[in-house]
Amino acid sequence: TVETTTLNTGAKLPLFGLGTWQSKDEAELKVALRAALDAGYRLIDTAFLYQNESIIGEILEEYIQSGKIKREDLFITTKLSFTAHAPQDVAKAVDLQLKALRLDYIDLFLIHTPTPFKHQDGNFLPIIEDGVFVVDTTPHIETWRELEKLYHSGKLRALGVSNFSAKQLQALYDAAEVKPSNHQIELHIYWPQEELRALAKKLNITVTAYAPLGSPGRKAARPDGVWPEGDPLLEPIVKKLAEKYHKTPAQILLRHLTQEGISAIPKSTNPDRIVENISIFDFKLSTEDLEALRTQVTSRVRLFLADFAAHHPFFPHEDVDTSKAPR
Ligand code: A2P
Repeated sequence: TVETTTLNTGAKLPLFGLGTWQSKDEAELKVALRAALDAGYRLIDTAFLYQNESIIGEILEEYIQSGKIKREDLFITTKLSFTAHAPQDVAKAVDLQLKALRLDYIDLFLIHTPTPFKHQDGNFLPIIEDGVFVVDTTPHIETWRELEKLYHSGKLRALGVSNFSAKQLQALYDAAEVKPSNHQIELHIYWPQEELRALAKKLNITVTAYAPLGSPGRKAARPDGVWPEGDPLLEPIVKKLAEKYHKTPAQILLRHLTQEGISAIPKSTNPDRIVENISIFDFKLSTEDLEALRTQVTSRVRLFLADFAAHHPFFPHEDVDTSKAPR
């Protein structure tokens, strides 16, 4: 069974779940969701941006109505559109998402990115000028106040953020009445995020790792197919530990996170890999092997966010120290 950690609300967050970014082919995603729910996944992670909440909603309803899974056993995480930070937009966006997901509450709702963008009239599509999104200026706390109201109304059972820098997280934490419960960040052996993990721990905020496998499918998300080189699944130390524990490289990468209390949400739409990825709670890496995964890697690089840093005010790269790469 999937291990859990406890949010500052008292709710249990599964340490493992299904990521769904880039899963919007309807037939493929439905197969994946059924395979995941049948294999014991209860945490599903999505976002307004992924454009798949209505597909997920259909399958959740199928499992709940047939009595196969109880709503209270599911843990659904979704995220605010980065075009809906303005106070007057927040509740409207959340209502659309609840409707799409066919739910009356969301277990964990995150601000997707620290930088908000302006939307077109009448929908939440971004305004694009000269090929770039037009930035909005709503301060985080103004968006958060609206989320707090939805928390108090019971529509959102826990609140959190994603892709925030340490500075942004601390500032929001200090100003918040309802404290953030979770921070979702890119986290894998090449980008261990030690500073954010330490801060989250200090503030009693749980951490979710996206791209825990280093996002081997990331090239597909870029029209030019250009991403930094590197693949944690092919790291010699990962392969070595896979042999030692009779597990796959993916299972080693996922187990090393969950063992440290981090929730991992690998994306897969392949039923075999979906089963493979959840089959990690029957073994434990030794302390020395966890340490080896910290020290014996050949690269330190953010694989997923890549070179967005140069172009977007979107992500908090100024806080990231990639200079400590052991070579
Ligand atoms: P697929 O959906 O075909 O399984 P991340 O969550 O780090 O972003 O990684 C997601 C990518 O990793 C997807 O391209 C997914 O492809 C692939 N993937 C998921 N599970 C595994 C696995 N166990 N082994 C290898 N690749 C995997």
